[in-house]
Amino acid sequence: MDSLDGWKRSGYAGQLGVDDIGSDVVLMGWVQKRRDHGGVIFIDLRDREGIAQIVINPDDSGDSHKKSHGVRNEYVLAVKGRVRARPGETANAGLKTGQVEVVAAEIKILNESSPLPFTLEEETDVSENLRLKYRYLDLRRSALQDKFLMRHRATQAARGFLTENGFIEVETPILTKSTPEGARDYLVPARLAPGHFYALPQSPQIFKQILMIAGFDRYFQVARCFRDEDLRADRQPEFTQIDAEMSFVDSDDIIAVNEGLITHIFKEAMGVELSPPFGRITYHDAMLRYGLDAPDTRFALELVDLTETVKGCGFKVFDAAASGGGLVKGLNAKGCASFSRKDLDDLTGLAVTYGAKGLAWVKVKEDGWQSPIAKFLPDEVKEAISAELSAEVGDLLLFSADSASVVNPVLGKVRLDLARRLDLINDKELNFVWVTDFPLFEYDEKEKRNKALHHPFTAPVEEDADKLESAPLEVRSDAYDLVLNGVEIGGGSIRIHSSEVQAKVFTALGIEKEEADERFGFLLEALRYGAPPHGGIAFGMDRLIAIMTGSESIRDVIAFPKTQKGACLLSEAPSNVSKTQLRELSIRPLKAATVTKEAGKKDLDEGKG
Ligand code: AMO
Ligand code: AMP
Repeated sequence: MDSLDGWKRSGYAGQLGVDDIGSDVVLMGWVQKRRDHGGVIFIDLRDREGIAQIVINPDDSGDSHKKSHGVRNEYVLAVKGRVRARPGETANAGLKTGQVEVVAAEIKILNESSPLPFTLEEETDVSENLRLKYRYLDLRRSALQDKFLMRHRATQAARGFLTENGFIEVETPILTKSTPEGARDYLVPARLAPGHFYALPQSPQIFKQILMIAGFDRYFQVARCFRDEDLRADRQPEFTQIDAEMSFVDSDDIIAVNEGLITHIFKEAMGVELSPPFGRITYHDAMLRYGLDAPDTRFALELVDLTETVKGCGFKVFDAAASGGGLVKGLNAKGCASFSRKDLDDLTGLAVTYGAKGLAWVKVKEDGWQSPIAKFLPDEVKEAISAELSAEVGDLLLFSADSASVVNPVLGKVRLDLARRLDLINDKELNFVWVTDFPLFEYDEKEKRNKALHHPFTAPVEEDADKLESAPLEVRSDAYDLVLNGVEIGGGSIRIHSSEVQAKVFTALGIEKEEADERFGFLLEALRYGAPPHGGIAFGMDRLIAIMTGSESIRDVIAFPKTQKGACLLSEAPSNVSKTQLRELSIRPLKAATVTKEAGKKDLDEGKG
């Protein structure tokens, strides 16, 4: 192996171009590929910016030619040489640096590499878990590097915009107290207070409100948040928010500033011009028309409420839902009467995973309805349904009948699935919509009590405030979510700044005064010392970047993400700790801790294929 010996890199290999022809350069990077063309050796040298072709002739690079025989993929090289134009027919239009090559005068092997556990080709079918274990190798791929460059540009753009608009970046504690964002807390035992725990923040929510009370007026933070919840493609146990809060504003002010922020991020990081204001839809309409509170509004295929139409129709399933306080809704899959038995079974299967007991279907044929439910329905009801759904010959009608909490998500998901099958989604489109007027509370059937739909510091809309005690479930909140292509990328609200209103909300949530004081007493007390009207928002940076980079999972835009089981396969966290450490923390585990190595291995096994 060679040492640098004072060699200074002249620039990035991946940035060489025709302007560099004739200049002497020093490049440093990794061997992407080495080819031996009977004497002349070609090396594709890769660095962060891309790849340059190095030519090593037997005659003009003496010792280096011999040395390059031993070079293998991913060796680290330094190359001194001169840039020249590639001979006409060898130019490579597919490569940024494809017009030029570097004729090596001398090379140094700065480090070797063991044979890789997988090749670093762009399209790879290696299991994700193996790639996560060797994340540093996977991250060498330019497709992944590009995502992190995008993330960097987007974060800097956000910082720039917010700074320009008078927001001050303030860090809030990581070792703190539970923040009620609805997930389980990650707890950290406090050595100096045996039996006591810090909670990692689910968001900076309480502290950012306190910063408003402290008079900062406009705050932001690129904030790491921690939530111990079940993981999916768009959820990680730790993730990043662009978190902001403002004083003396209403929700329209906050929405306007944040449309500016998002527009700036897309322009700076992606070169895409958005044209705010974005569309808005109320929660009520989103549920009615799309069945989901984060609707994908890139395509129509809207749900139609048929509850009134089918009341007393004679079909048990519909009648029971319609007269029992539930819903009957349908949607028209245009031109899908040709769906096979299997297609219908798949759709039904999907409906069942979201809690449906079935998914009634109708194929509209020349000679009328072909459907397992046709015989249960009188002609006039069939006609009324057909009219409501604008059904024509060749269409497939799908129905769900149950409580609203089943029908909406079921048909909402069926709608998304159909859109994918029917290719109704334009991948290039960026469709932003604000969802507003959420209910302040939702009733939790399991716990038999009201829960905050956002968090308990969200203010009710002014007109509804008098219903807090009499009809809490009818109270709308002054909250808004920003949805991009059917993904909730951010959400926020105007906050309660009066300690009396806050107390009423706690009562509606079934939180006793003692419990409220114990959990958030410091905020409640702060609200009594001149809290300004305030509100804010937080964007899920990982979700935003995943969409900007066309990634299927936010794991792709997090440098060191965790698996579904919350394991970091690279570092093997979570891991065992020593008895001494536990003793210092006054902790005795109930169960012998399972070693993460095992969990990691299991992940690796399951990830195959
Ligand atoms: P909320 O809980 O809606 O609001 O979070 C804001 C945004 O953060 C993203 N997000 C996540 N991203 C990845 N993994 C997760 N586990 C995860 N959970 C949430 C989403 C979401 O829209 N304090 C409030 C904001 C406020 O009221 O100002 C809050 O945290 O994109
Ligand atoms: P059944 O009379 O139970 O055989 O159901 C007749 C049709 O209605 C079948 O196609 C079922 O899939 C469908 N079905 C059953 N329950 C529901 C429901 N809750 N909502 C919509 N369709 C249903």
